[in-house]
Amino acid sequence: MIIRPDAAGAAETALDFVRRLYDRKPDPVLGLATGKTPLALYGKMRASGLDFSGTHFFNLDELVGLGPDAPNSFRRFLRENLLDGLGVHEERVRLLRGDAKDLEREAADYEAAIKEAGGIDLQILGLGRNGHIGFNEPGSSLGSRTRPKTLDRETLADYGPGTPRFSITMGIGTILEARVLLMIATGEAKAEAVRRIAEGPLTSETPGSALQLHPRAHLVVDEAAASRLARADYWRWVWENKWRVGQ
Ligand code: PGA
Repeated sequence: MIIRPDAAGAAETALDFVRRLYDRKPDPVLGLATGKTPLALYGKMRASGLDFSGTHFFNLDELVGLGPDAPNSFRRFLRENLLDGLGVHEERVRLLRGDAKDLEREAADYEAAIKEAGGIDLQILGLGRNGHIGFNEPGSSLGSRTRPKTLDRETLADYGPGTPRFSITMGIGTILEARVLLMIATGEAKAEAVRRIAEGPLTSETPGSALQLHPRAHLVVDEAAASRLARADYWRWVWENKWRVGQ
């Protein structure tokens, strides 16, 4: 748990993790997240000067029924906010297709593509107010794989009117297989979810609590998102005493 003063600081620290990955491996496999939270990191990645041409990209989730160019498709979001202009190799970009005719088949193909790419090195994650990761809503099996999933009402309310009710998402089991997890959560609205995943019990009712099982899961939060942590002082102490950001 790394607590930074604000969202810009959290994005900076998240970029440190990305940089360290590229120091080690010039052609990594990166898992992307959609949402407002990672936007600051994506801006910094674009400005970083890192060479992304060898990177294999996957993403966490997609809304069902939207073509790739639909304004609210996650594919379009990732194109516009990260991938366009990053110098990526198109054959190394595999984003989930919400317009696939056979979603179960798409899910199986996606899992196979991740395997074929050698597994995900770094998975970027956001956190829903209800504790979801990807579109693994509360109650999702901790062993779940990529599959179609119904959005819960709170998520639909967060996304606004006209949002499709169905998604296709990596499962929690899929996410846990990434070698490093990097979750970013900022703002007061996420404080309770951060508390539940970090200090609450491991439970499918709080899908993000599955990070407690992962050997290399990093949570980068701002002070607002950390405001309900009972042990925030301990985490600040850890940060002060760390001589480097390790992966
Ligand atoms: P947000 O979404 O970054 O837009 O808050 C996070 C999520 O729902 O996973």
